[in-house]
Amino acid sequence: MASRVIPVDPFDLVIFGGTGDLARRKILPGLYRRFWAGQFPGGARIVGASRKDMSQDEFRSFVRDAIASYAIEGADDPDCIAGFLNHVTYVAVDAMGDAGWDNLKAMVRTDVVRAFYFSVAPGLFGPLAKRLHRFSIASSSCRVVVEKPFGHDLQSARTLNQTLANYFDEAQIYRIDHYLGKETVQNLMAVRFGNILFEPLWNAQFVDHIQITVAETVGVGGRGAYYDKSGAMRDMVQNHLMQLVCLIAMEPPHCFEPDAVRDEKLKVIRALDAVDPGDIVRGQYAGAEGIDSYLTDSENPASLTESFLAMKLHVSNWRWKGTPFYLRTGKRLKARTSEIAVVFKDPPHSIFGEQPDRRGNVLVIRLQPNEGINLRVTIKEPGPGGMRLIEVPLDMSFAEALGKEASQVADAYERLIMDVIRGNQTLFMRGDEVEAAWAWTDPLIEGWTRRGDRPRTYQPGSAGPEEALMLLFRENRRWREIAE
Ligand code: BG6
Repeated sequence: MASRVIPVDPFDLVIFGGTGDLARRKILPGLYRRFWAGQFPGGARIVGASRKDMSQDEFRSFVRDAIASYAIEGADDPDCIAGFLNHVTYVAVDAMGDAGWDNLKAMVRTDVVRAFYFSVAPGLFGPLAKRLHRFSIASSSCRVVVEKPFGHDLQSARTLNQTLANYFDEAQIYRIDHYLGKETVQNLMAVRFGNILFEPLWNAQFVDHIQITVAETVGVGGRGAYYDKSGAMRDMVQNHLMQLVCLIAMEPPHCFEPDAVRDEKLKVIRALDAVDPGDIVRGQYAGAEGIDSYLTDSENPASLTESFLAMKLHVSNWRWKGTPFYLRTGKRLKARTSEIAVVFKDPPHSIFGEQPDRRGNVLVIRLQPNEGINLRVTIKEPGPGGMRLIEVPLDMSFAEALGKEASQVADAYERLIMDVIRGNQTLFMRGDEVEAAWAWTDPLIEGWTRRGDRPRTYQPGSAGPEEALMLLFRENRRWREIAE
């Protein structure tokens, strides 16, 4: 059992969309792992809710399959699974009608933490919230959890925020961006604000540029219809990459409390400059032997949607004026890897004379896989023959440094769901943050749509279109290799 697990208070967690894909892949396995880790109190109840008519046994067998497919630790322990299933019940409710709501009301308790997870299409947020109130199931202390996509643009995000605000206070709404639940993303804050070493250098005077890469090897096959309406900008940049930019760029909050952190993130988003069209490269993967092209996967032969996006952006404030942030993300790239690299400037003067191959200090925060932190420092090449400098990594792979504990690190969803139960909103997006992110995103999308820009084609298994390499190359910089 993992160490330092602090049990949460008794709760009822109702998952609308309880038989859906997200529940099966992430929510239910995540809850199971927390149970296995000893974090569940005796009085915890998970209520799966959906339109389907299903018996308790049928739902439990659905949960058992989800655990077998997606839970790692303890998934082969029959006693543990049986124990977990004792916490699970099911109710059929109709989001658009009144059927089933009395049954749900009879199931949830009033004297425990109550959370409602809207793992459903955003169009159902309003009808669900309305009925939770009409049937007096919601209260001023209950919590609601909503997923991305939170809107499609500023207008739709505002409408969703207003819909939720009709029924719940902001303090009750937990908007998930699962990147914020990743262990290393939180470590980024620990590294920045827990050490004296980095913060004095964390500004335009010492940082040459920042690279954020979220590369995936998968294509969009299977979810092409959704993806084709989103593209990399809406699917990844507006939310996940934006959150990473915020955590890198924000000022130190005065404490690690939800609004203190979110206020600082919001200031970053508001300080983002509009991006010059020449600083944006959009791409679409071609097909290859045995691999369908984006156009085939999206089932839209005329699609102009990007499956790859690279861009240079500027944060216009005192700390960052002049330091570019380069972002890139894409599907069907050469490796699955997510990392942030803070590339420092060279020392102002080299006492060792010309060192043409020197590449300077780089701090790399690896989000996945092989989570860890790596700082490249310059040393003298060993041996006689003068002062030749080389760079070596000061490497901290979490798996090596923390051993077993690192392997027991909770996945993003586990952590975030437990934060909902604890009532801690620090790792969730506030409504104004989401709207600010869309306000920055919308004009960029409108721009390339109006101009009819065509995405560049790139080969599957590559690093994206050539033009993305040029984005840095033309400024005498270079992307880091995309490698696991
Ligand atoms: C989701 C996107 O939000 O994040 C997907 O919709 C993407 O397109 C996924 O694949 C990436 O998440 P992770 O945790 O695998 O990096």
